[in-house]
Amino acid sequence: MPKTIPPEVINDIQDRCDIVELISSYIPLKKTGRNFQSTCPFHSEKTPSFIVSPEKQIYHCFGCGEGGNALSFLMKYEHLNFREAVETLAKRVGVAIQFEEKETDQEKTYTNEIYRINELACDFYQNNFINKPNAEVNKYLKSRNLKEDTLKKFKIGLAPNQWDNLLNYLRAKSINIKLIEKAGLIIAKENGGFYDRFRNRLVIPIFDVKNRIIAFGARALDDSTPKYINSPETPIYIKGRNLFGLNLAKDAIREKDYCIITEGYFDVITPMQEGLSNIVCSSGTALTIEQIRLLKRYTKNVVVIYDADTAGQLATLRSLYLFLDEDMNVKIVNLPKGFDPDLFVRKFGIEKFKNLVDSALDIFEYKLKVVTHIYDVKKISEKTKIALEMLSMIKRMKNEVLKSEYLKLLAERISINEDSLLKELNKIKPSQTTDNTAWDSEKNISQTYPKNERMLIKLILEDTKITDGVKGSISPGDLQDKRLQKILALVFKLYDSYSELKPNQIINYLDDENCIKLISELTSEEILNYETVNRDNILQGCIKEIKNGNIKMRCQILQTKIQEAESQKDNEGINKLKEELNTLNKKRGRLNEKNRN
Ligand code: UTP
Ligand code: MN
Repeated sequence: MPKTIPPEVINDIQDRCDIVELISSYIPLKKTGRNFQSTCPFHSEKTPSFIVSPEKQIYHCFGCGEGGNALSFLMKYEHLNFREAVETLAKRVGVAIQFEEKETDQEKTYTNEIYRINELACDFYQNNFINKPNAEVNKYLKSRNLKEDTLKKFKIGLAPNQWDNLLNYLRAKSINIKLIEKAGLIIAKENGGFYDRFRNRLVIPIFDVKNRIIAFGARALDDSTPKYINSPETPIYIKGRNLFGLNLAKDAIREKDYCIITEGYFDVITPMQEGLSNIVCSSGTALTIEQIRLLKRYTKNVVVIYDADTAGQLATLRSLYLFLDEDMNVKIVNLPKGFDPDLFVRKFGIEKFKNLVDSALDIFEYKLKVVTHIYDVKKISEKTKIALEMLSMIKRMKNEVLKSEYLKLLAERISINEDSLLKELNKIKPSQTTDNTAWDSEKNISQTYPKNERMLIKLILEDTKITDGVKGSISPGDLQDKRLQKILALVFKLYDSYSELKPNQIINYLDDENCIKLISELTSEEILNYETVNRDNILQGCIKEIKNGNIKMRCQILQTKIQEAESQKDNEGINKLKEELNTLNKKRGRLNEKNRN
């Protein structure tokens, strides 16, 4: 979404508004020290972790990571786009602004209308069931043992086997065609016109926790592919932020204090039909940290159901470490080969399924079982591998008591002395506990990026005047964290025109929500004795550490390359690489010396 309103205008509007006053018109704020506090309006919590800083004119929730300036709050709370938020704020503070009408229309995200259109579409699909009995469909429902009450409960419907039924239905209700397209329900034809996205399929609405329909999944009635067609991402549907079934499961999850996580829509629908309600699914994709945090509002305990054939794969198991990051307890259970929960419950009944869930192993036991299956604990070299695999998981656990208990247990199980295990544990770097393929993106969202980089950006955000001094000694590419890179590049760019910018203004130049949240987090973070330290010393220290870290990394790469070249007797290559290594080592020496003076 391009932000075409001149920044000066936006800053002026923002300056006239007090974020405390704005937010307290929506939720009650309580003064605590320099800040104001409340329970977070964006996630459910009992103890307040949502703070508003009158000094910085920024809000941040340390529970869910939501944060930003006055405009971000309005966008998020009122579901507005940037332009609408500026308009709303301008009205509040009594500033008249003129926009070109055309652009306003294009840029609106119309979220409320999309919810309504989804609601209408859902009615339409459901009515097809009720009003038009269809032999093929009835046969299919029977074969899946789907009962009428279940169809009602999940509001499952039927998309007719025609190209424009929904389209005509909605147009007869005078719904704007562009909006129907935005909702993802119709698709534009190449030579003009539109057609229904879902045809001749069972349509399953996807609800958010507030019971609003945000998307649909549609199942083929036979073996045709794709098996499911889902809504695309829309202004109200972002994949990986929602868990299917949670709206119906949440009370049961709270009550039983655990949640079963499966993969498919029907793996939720069938158990619920049979009376087991604390179950949700990820809709066939890897769980994201956002989904895990969403679930954490209801319970800290999960049981993950794995297909038997993927169970052996350590990589899939590693994706469950995200739960450990959130200090949650994960158990894992396998189903017999060829079964998913839907099939299992239909074949063996819900009681057997419950027994299976009760027999789930915690992640430690489960992983130990898997790795001792892969490696032979009797061979010394393989025993080391087992130890390392297990330690890399223990490293991710947040609870120190749990950690030391598992260490003790591991020592016992593979008969290795606990002290040696502890020593090895301390050698493991956080980066070794992740596998980069599956979750680079999650890693960015979680808070594992280097401290020095965070500190550097915090210092710059708090006083952009120091940018001049920083510019010569470090560049965005020196940072590992992509979001911090983006922020630094932006500050460098803005600095040419504005020598002084506050974090709440910098936010207005960013489209990336993750960057905005990071800015609110960094500026809200309280650091012990921060007021009394010498900021310039810290700044120089951070820059030195970042550069040192990069040189170290480069040296390691060079050393491996030299070894390779040596094994291939490539003398010319060896010399070149060694030369570079020397230069780097000198550079490192100089860097450290400079800092000591
Ligand atoms: P599965 O392939 O395991 O299907 O996909 P399923 O849930 O057992 O489907 P049924 O029982 O044959 O009806 C698991 C989930 O992955 C998503 C769906 O959310 C599905 O429930 N998926 C699967 C898709 O989105 N598209 C597909 O083509 C397949
Ligand atoms: Mn299935």
